[in-house]
Amino acid sequence: MKITNICCIGAGYVGGPTMAIIAQKCPHIKVTVVDLNAERIAAWNDENVENIPIYEPGLSELVGEARGRNLFFSTEVDKAIDEAQMIFISVNTPTKTYGLGKGMAADLKYIELCARQIASIAKNDKIVVEKSTLPVRTAEAIKSILENTGNGVHFQILSNPEFLAEGTAVQDLLQPDRVLIGGETSPEGEQAINSLVEVYANWVPKERILTTNVWSSELSKLTANAFLAQRVSSINAMSELCEKTGADVNEVARAIGMDSRIGPKFLKSSVGFGGSCFQKDILNLVYIAKSYGLHEVADYWVQVIIMNDHQKRRFAANIVQTLYNTVSGKKIAFLGWAFKKDTNDTRESAAIYVSDYLLNEQANIAVFDPQVKEKQVLADLDYLQSRPSDLNKKGINVMDDPYEVCKGAHAVAILTEWDEFREYDWQKIYDNMQKPAFVFDGRNILDTPKLTAIGFIVQSVGSTN
Ligand code: NAD
Ligand code: UDX
Repeated sequence: MKITNICCIGAGYVGGPTMAIIAQKCPHIKVTVVDLNAERIAAWNDENVENIPIYEPGLSELVGEARGRNLFFSTEVDKAIDEAQMIFISVNTPTKTYGLGKGMAADLKYIELCARQIASIAKNDKIVVEKSTLPVRTAEAIKSILENTGNGVHFQILSNPEFLAEGTAVQDLLQPDRVLIGGETSPEGEQAINSLVEVYANWVPKERILTTNVWSSELSKLTANAFLAQRVSSINAMSELCEKTGADVNEVARAIGMDSRIGPKFLKSSVGFGGSCFQKDILNLVYIAKSYGLHEVADYWVQVIIMNDHQKRRFAANIVQTLYNTVSGKKIAFLGWAFKKDTNDTRESAAIYVSDYLLNEQANIAVFDPQVKEKQVLADLDYLQSRPSDLNKKGINVMDDPYEVCKGAHAVAILTEWDEFREYDWQKIYDNMQKPAFVFDGRNILDTPKLTAIGFIVQSVGSTN
């Protein structure tokens, strides 16, 4: 089937950018992105394209070009489902916060709602594509919901997990390492797979488009994220040992990364990984392993999370310890709140946990992030439910000038690796801080010798400087 009409349910960090690229690369396809969240859709449709709800380098230009031509954002979910030949489900699949599997399993209620809505609306055959990250064998549940309406409509379900990373989403989508499409091995399944292959083939070389069975595709996504997160936890584990032994984790990472079997990527020691995916997907993997009775497999992967939690806590504890064992009433300046640079996404950001620890120690925190606003910072802290909202508001102050944030501070902590932090006038920052002036570089991005020459006491992750 030649695809000319696509609908995507979920206008988030995946749905928005992915569909913008499909629209740009496939002018013959009408792409409609729908969401229940009217505020989000209004932001996608904002006259000023800089106000789209997701910050990603290059995205607003893409949306500006395609919007209104063959890319549409709408809250009319039923209409878009009805008109589409192919429906991508790109809704959130957070960790369950209730019931069986609480704190581990993926919450699939949004997925099921989508499946039920598609089942009730569809009047002709459709291809349904799982774009969200899902537990292996979810397609079975979706199929069962879709095929039991008795209205004679047939569905093919494909798994097409997304591998983009935030901050580089546009680039990752334009030049993916691979596109993965899982489908049924029947002739109808193969036809559906081919329809989706043809969409991607508009810009992705065919040899990079992998096709597999549905279960391999679903499980490959969880596996990829688990492996990536494991690399970060592995290097972070070594960072603590480096601090004790006088080794430098950056040098260790370079030395091992030059081994072509290990490779240089994803070996940056840090305050700990964040983001909406790594922790959620590993917990999900752990839950699935446990549900099959594979306890050793589950224990193996859970260690990646334990190490990451330790790294965040250790960073915060070191600030307290270094500041003479008390931060009560002291001002700590945070540069960065997003979970990584070049995104406005703060989900599971290390900054949230470090600040929570320091607020318990009665610190006064001032925050600057180029893309994150006060409302989001407070919402992130409130979500932890560690203390009443008004206490969070009292303890944390978000400003839009980094120099004001650092003024009068006892310490500056780097929580996100935004490039601009390297370029700041560090002499000016030093002059306006309490002395001794401490810097805790949670991303190892600053020029330590230069800062030390100014007079700062600098502590990086994984070295004794
Ligand atoms: P998100 O929270 O940014 O967006 C999901 C959107 O779906 C929300 O706007 C929500 O309102 C909407 N939604 C939920 N239920 C709906 C329904 N029934 N009808 C219409 N809209 C509905 O999430 P995201 O970051 O885009 O992630 C989506 C999926 O992609 C998740 O499964 C995630 O694991 C996966 N993923 C995310 C990334 C990433 O970098 N964020 C990368 C790869 C895969
Ligand atoms: C990740 C996967 O990379 C992507 O393929 C998947 O589709 C979604 O999940 P994302 O979470 O957006 O992407 O960003 P990523 O670049 O993977 O970084 C995740 C976290 O790990 C960030 O907090 C980042 O700062 C941290 N990280 C990454 C490190 O601390 N060190 C590294 O070397 C790499």
